[in-house]
Formats: sequence, structure tokens, C-alpha cells
Amino acid sequence: MKDSSSFWIDMWNRKSTAGSDFEATGRGTMDLVGFLYTLKETIEALELRRSESRVLDIGCGTGIIPLALSPWVKGVVGVDLSKGMAARALKNCRSAENLSFCTGNITSLPVRSASFDRVLAYSVLQYLNGPGEVKIAFTEVARALKPGGVAFLAANPDPGKKKLFEQKVKERDIDERQKVEALRYVDLILWMTGEEMLQIASRAGLSGELRPIHSRIWQSFYMYDLLLRKNHG
Ligand SMILES: C[S@@+](CC[C@H](N)C(=O)[O-])C[C@H]1O[C@@H](n2cnc3c(N)ncnc32)[C@H](O)[C@@H]1O
Repeated sequence: MKDSSSFWIDMWNRKSTAGSDFEATGRGTMDLVGFLYTLKETIEALELRRSESRVLDIGCGTGIIPLALSPWVKGVVGVDLSKGMAARALKNCRSAENLSFCTGNITSLPVRSASFDRVLAYSVLQYLNGPGEVKIAFTEVARALKPGGVAFLAANPDPGKKKLFEQKVKERDIDERQKVEALRYVDLILWMTGEEMLQIASRAGLSGELRPIHSRIWQSFYMYDLLLRKNHG
């Protein structure tokens, strides 16, 4: 009789070729939030390093990034323009005590001045209405940060890559409905160069650099990140 380990080896070898990593690891029916709780429990159980940073996540969406960050930091305040997103984030993150959520706009943040060590806005600046609003948003980010604090304003579309974006979406192995959805917002979102962003940031008291996005992230070919520090004094 075949020993049971060869049964499991066969099964996991078959699984290892599954379309998604969730499926391959036997998490096929698990939702993303459940997976983030798995990570949170693991990081906490192993007492991995904890920093004292207070983080403001602007445009926090459903709270999945705050949930992933929660074991590592003193706390995260998530702010989102959408009431529905803030409510969902609150529900998703109910059992992570160092997280809180509210509604608010990056152009008028509902937070005290100089109260955060870090600010994150992942894939948010693209929803602003031109350079004037970007200036207001950067002034708000600078106000929320402590002197020397760091802002990671990630995933911003580069106007030089707009045509390539349209072409790649059309070629992508996704269904027609997903393509239409991806192309629907092309002319509505803000395509602004990194250099212009840096100039505006500098007028708001933030200085830093442009960074490429990791190549494993599909958006990396048309988006860039901004890493900024609030000037002292
Ligand atoms: C593409 S989603 C990214 C969500 C989250 N940051 C993430 O990476 O998973 C953009 C989010 O930003 C929010 N948002 C858009 N404009 C905003 C603004 N002016 N101020 C605050 N949040 C905004 C949207 O409601 C949405 O939840």
C-alpha cells in the first residue's frame, strides 16, 4: 500500500500549479481580510519588532493596509473620502485595537497638526482635481506630520505612460468587462509628472524623491511612488 505521505505529496504538487497563490496554499475560499488576520496573529505571536510610529493612512479603503500594519506600529488612523469605505474598514478591523477610522478628505484632514510620524496615501493622489488640489493636499499632509516625519504617497500615474497604459490594458488577459472598467477612468484621473509633484511638495515643506514601483506589481510600468520627508523648522 502507498504510504500516506505520497498521497499528500501528489496532492500538494497538483495544488502548486493552481492559478492563484491563495488556491495553491489551500486558502482557496479564504477572503483577504481573513488572510490579513492570519498575518497579524503570526507577527504578534512571534513578537516581531514593533515600532512606536503613529501612522495616518489617507484613502484607507476597506482597511486592509492598516490591518496588515497594525502589529508593527503604535497605531493607524485611516481616513477615507467614502463613508462606505470607512464603515467597511471599521467593520473589517474591529478586533485590531490600535486602528481607528473616519471619513475625511486629503485636502482637509480631520486630524491634529504634527500628530503623525508617518503618512501613507496609496493610490489616492490620482483622484485629485489638478495641481491646485495637489498643493492643498500636500500642505495638509505636511501639517499632519511631525517635523522629520515621512510620507509615502504611492502609485501615481505618469502622463508619459498614458498611451502605453491604454495599449497594455487592451492586450491584458482579462475579460472585456474588466478592460472597459480599467479604461473608463483614464481621462478622469490625474496624470501628473513626478517632477511637478516634487516641486509642489517642496512648496508645502516636503522634500524627497521619486521611486519606481516593484516590478511584481502590474501597475509598475505606468505609476511611480513619492517618498517625502517634512522639513525641520
Ligand atoms: C484605489 S483605492 C486605494 C485604497 C487603499 N489605499 C489601498 O491601497 O488598498 C482609493 C481610495 O482613496 C479614497 N479617496 C479618493 N479620493 C480621496 C480623497 N480626496 N481623500 C481621501 N480619500 C480619498 C477612495 O474612497 C478609495 O477608498
